[in-house]
Amino acid sequence: MTAGPAPAARTARGDGTRLGLGLGLRSAHLPYVLAERPDVGWFEIISENFLDTAGYPRHALDRIAERYPVVMHGVSMSIGSTDPLDMHYLGRLRMLAEDVGARWISDHVCWTGVAGVNTHELLPVPLTEEALRHVARRVRVVQDVLERPLVLENPSTYAAFAHATMTEWEFLARLCEESGCRLLLDVNNVYVSSVNHGFDPEEYIRALPHDRVEQIHLAGHTDMGDHLLDTHDGPVAEPVWALYRLATSLTGPVPTLLEWDEDIPPFPELLEELRKASRHVGALPGSAVLGSAVSGSAVSDA
Ligand SMILES: [Fe+2]
Repeated sequence: MTAGPAPAARTARGDGTRLGLGLGLRSAHLPYVLAERPDVGWFEIISENFLDTAGYPRHALDRIAERYPVVMHGVSMSIGSTDPLDMHYLGRLRMLAEDVGARWISDHVCWTGVAGVNTHELLPVPLTEEALRHVARRVRVVQDVLERPLVLENPSTYAAFAHATMTEWEFLARLCEESGCRLLLDVNNVYVSSVNHGFDPEEYIRALPHDRVEQIHLAGHTDMGDHLLDTHDGPVAEPVWALYRLATSLTGPVPTLLEWDEDIPPFPELLEELRKASRHVGALPGSAVLGSAVSGSAVSDA
């Protein structure tokens, strides 16, 4: 195994541009999706929910993957930790990706534990040169194991390190450059963190390497009074839609996914909220591709 420089092919956006609008696949909706074949461009699964399972959820996923493009989103790679990478976990990720034909595999720029302890929280990485080198080195190893670029998401954060030497957007841009990874831009997380830390979310989005953005997340959040919390329990807030309009004006059409993980509404309501995305990019270059793909990219029964 090597961790050499990223090949040139990793710098071009993958084949996902035309996927359009997708939804997070949640267990409560599996029977509905199988029976009704809703008009959704693609589904994102939480990888850990389908590792080492052979029951109904996995059966349903296999059927869904025959009909829709699927991407994998993980929460336990802990790319920023100082613990060794979990090679067993990476191997299982790769097998699942091959089984369901995953278009890409994503996780978060975070760490979830240290010294073998898993907090199950997406904890912020120190924005320093040392951490950047550390994370970039680990990303290159992961990409070698998975044999594909890793897509990394900006997390929502609630604390920062006093010894940080760069902004989060600088860290992400340099991580892409030094590792060849790609970005999952969670626009809601940008907004939540911008309020919590007092930075300009538009400056963040303008400064990202837009050709590296493989996917966008949209979600709802909760105003806790003295901070915002990334709760994924409601519709997308207007300031987040505004940032989405800005982001898509800079990235062009990027596969966009609505996350909704608490107080999950019936599937048709989710779909209604998702479809607002096409209206928000309706006046922007490339929006026709994004809008039409809501109904255009589901895989046929063939
Ligand atoms: Fe997200």
